Amino acid sequence: MDTVDTRPEARAREASTRRLTRRQPVQRLVGEAAGSPLKRTMGVAQLTLLSVGATLGTGIFVVLGQAVPEAGPAIVVSFLVAGVTALFSALSYAELAGMIPGSGSSYSYAYATLGELVAWVCGWCLILEYGVSVAAVAVGWGQYVNELLDLTFGVTLPDSLSAPPGAGGTLNIPAALIVVLAMVVLLRGAKESAVANTIMVAVKIAALVIFCAVAFTAFRAGNFHPLFPLGAAGMSAGAASLFFSYIGFDAASTAGEEARNPQKDLPRAIILSLVLVTALYVLVAVAALGAMPWKQFAGTEATLSEVLVRSVGGGSLWPILLSVGAVVATTSVVLTVQYGQIRILFAMARDGLVPPLFAKVHPRTGVPRANTVIVSGFIAVLAALVPLGSLADATSIGTLFAFMLVNLAVVLLRRRSPDTPRSFRVPFSPVTPLLGVGFCVYMLGSLGADTWIAFGAWMAAGLVIYGLYGIRHSKLAQTSPEDLA
Ligand code: ALA
Repeated sequence: MDTVDTRPEARAREASTRRLTRRQPVQRLVGEAAGSPLKRTMGVAQLTLLSVGATLGTGIFVVLGQAVPEAGPAIVVSFLVAGVTALFSALSYAELAGMIPGSGSSYSYAYATLGELVAWVCGWCLILEYGVSVAAVAVGWGQYVNELLDLTFGVTLPDSLSAPPGAGGTLNIPAALIVVLAMVVLLRGAKESAVANTIMVAVKIAALVIFCAVAFTAFRAGNFHPLFPLGAAGMSAGAASLFFSYIGFDAASTAGEEARNPQKDLPRAIILSLVLVTALYVLVAVAALGAMPWKQFAGTEATLSEVLVRSVGGGSLWPILLSVGAVVATTSVVLTVQYGQIRILFAMARDGLVPPLFAKVHPRTGVPRANTVIVSGFIAVLAALVPLGSLADATSIGTLFAFMLVNLAVVLLRRRSPDTPRSFRVPFSPVTPLLGVGFCVYMLGSLGADTWIAFGAWMAAGLVIYGLYGIRHSKLAQTSPEDLA
């Protein structure tokens, strides 16, 4: 017969385990999102462009130089494979974003399924996916601006003003500047930010379409024979290398409280943006490989410009055009991903896991103002002072971890809340989301030991903060047990 341990230590142990695994009822999250003080201004087009804005960035402009030597012309297939890998997680995001359309994205999905501790871990991972990656992209932005200055005026900023300490400089001013500029736009409101993003997405898509049009004039089908010179293994290595160029399709899931019709539009926006980006990437890869033999890609940095220069000549006009495209592309990644970080912290503050200041909304603009200023300030300092190479890898680990949790959350919620309305359902669940988990685990396994150590240190810091603050201030702790799932 079971006996219940009623000793005080046993009861205290049980109470603290319960605290760590307490879950947000789905209905409560839905209700919170419905009564949000943020302004609902975005339709499906803006939401799709928000995700495209966050995804299509540094990656496609530079990644071919690294990935083509690994895969050869089969890089075209690698793009499809990485796109399909992303699609498994995108389907899961679509189901959960339609079901729980708040600002917290995967953090909220984890809170509803795996409990508060895992939700905190997920939120802490999202700071890597969003906050830290903005800093890394901002550093890339500074490099593109320098290249553009060089191409147009023949001048570059000195290292002392455009590189962090330890990399030959004192402060990376351009990197900090773009973060501050994004903050100014974000403070004006979500609608204004969406307009700015729409214009930038149009410019970057135009830059890539122009690239394809020009590169196709030098197209040689012979460049694709043999298609797999480095075998299937080379093709998979290429897919892993370029996976990061797909990160960002989930950005729309942070806009649930600013969407006019989130249940319907969020799933559509997430999937549509991924399909659009995948099509564009494959087209760019076909154009690039058709114009320049694969062996010439090794060691190129501004790869797309080089493809044009080496294949069709064209003086300096094409590289300038592409550099403008790259500057604009990274600007919209900074804007949209910074936006996402602010919204995720907003949701965490509403739950009491970070201070309430992060959830305070300005009555006129509908923007969480203090949150925007603090997050932007933090990212600007990071971008100005830290050489971000290894932090970029940390971004991948944080993202994959969050994706894995989202796929798991779909499976768990189907079992626990089968009757909650879902505006979109992942087909063939649980097979599809479990395949999503498998892909994430596989990719996590391919990251280096250094990245895992940095990730471990980041997580340890996160757990200390949770122990000191979140666990005591959690709003869920003040909810009566009968209200919980
Ligand atoms: N997908 C984003 C980029 O390629 C991270 O810049």
